[in-house]
Amino acid sequence: DSPGPESWETLFTGISHLVTPAPGPQRGPAMRELTVVEDAALLVQGGLVAWVGPRRDAPRTPSTRDLGGVAVVPGLVDPHTHAVWAGDRLADFEARLAGVPYEEMLARGGGIRSTVRATAAAPMEELVQLARPRLEALARSGATTVEVKSGYGLDFEAEVRMLRAVRELQSLLSVTLLPTLLIHVPPETGRAAYVQAVCAELIPQVAGEGLAVAVDVFCEREAFTVGETRAILSAARGHDLGVKLHADQFHALGGVELACDLGALSVDHLEASGPAQIVALAASETVATVLPGVTLHLGLPAAPARALIDAGACVAVGTDLNPGSSPLFNAGLALALAVRLNGLTPAEALTAGTVNAAAALGLRDRGALAAGQRADFLALHSPDWRDLVYTLGASPVRDVFVGGERISL
Ligand code: NIG
Ligand code: FE
Repeated sequence: DSPGPESWETLFTGISHLVTPAPGPQRGPAMRELTVVEDAALLVQGGLVAWVGPRRDAPRTPSTRDLGGVAVVPGLVDPHTHAVWAGDRLADFEARLAGVPYEEMLARGGGIRSTVRATAAAPMEELVQLARPRLEALARSGATTVEVKSGYGLDFEAEVRMLRAVRELQSLLSVTLLPTLLIHVPPETGRAAYVQAVCAELIPQVAGEGLAVAVDVFCEREAFTVGETRAILSAARGHDLGVKLHADQFHALGGVELACDLGALSVDHLEASGPAQIVALAASETVATVLPGVTLHLGLPAAPARALIDAGACVAVGTDLNPGSSPLFNAGLALALAVRLNGLTPAEALTAGTVNAAAALGLRDRGALAAGQRADFLALHSPDWRDLVYTLGASPVRDVFVGGERISL
């Protein structure tokens, strides 16, 4: 079906305030520099933003749509999720509340490893059915682009099945999904051979079948060493895949420095990062992605996002949606938490959840409402965009548009 002239070109009006960062990654104080257009109009042509400005200056078009006088912001980008899993971690949750640390459960073969057992046993169709409502919840919360990681497979067949599930989910959902191969937990025996096979077999297969756009490694005491992480990410580079890391969640082992050295798209978590890591990130293009859902759910320290921005780094925010460390199904709430827990201003949070989160995925075509960008945007319930990061619990998002079309939620 080719789009008719109406969907090809529509002028949106009834926008009390259109609020957007500039296109492309923003770092340091530039994260606070939003453009605000009062009584705005937005022209969409062929799924892209063609023009933005005051309504009185808008070009004449046959098709207009009045949004009713509310705030419009760019669609959110969730740059870090583990939305595909089977089983649950409710017993872990209770055990943690009773005092057993997350790392200790992992060391004892529980935690992530229990999700690996349940996920590896699930057929692809079941993974799709389980993940679909989670991704729909993220979409309702305003996420128009969502990264989804594998990583609960361990054996290669199960990792590939998770990535195939993401491909299937993309055919069912209108938001954009970006699949990442996550090398998450080492096997209990034979880890050197496992790392070797990830590099020589799994990464070439995933790259060859186009099943992922990036490779991520969990660099941590209970997971992969800095040396193993470097080997895996170098192999990913050799196959033209983007590279990312989970680093400094519990211990600053050198994962952040490795990310900066490799020119990774992003390094995520950073709860244990200190002054040396902040200096390294401020001097690098690598996006520092913080995950306040983990701080809330595990009671970990907050990642030093305030200090990172003050030092000049490029900071993004993600939900880290997963059953063990962040059961957070709402991209807007992740931004609201980043304001409370990580000390971002509302303006910085909007930038962190749009253009900077897009940059963490290697994307520069979305996250801002400016000519040439994708027409992914949100109409809020309120005329004041700050409700997006103020509201807790209820949804401040009324309508979600992807490529200029309202999606049903
Ligand atoms: O980003 N830290 C490692 N991986 C995930 C958690 C996965 C899990 O607990 O199931 C994270 O926090
Ligand atoms: Fe994660």
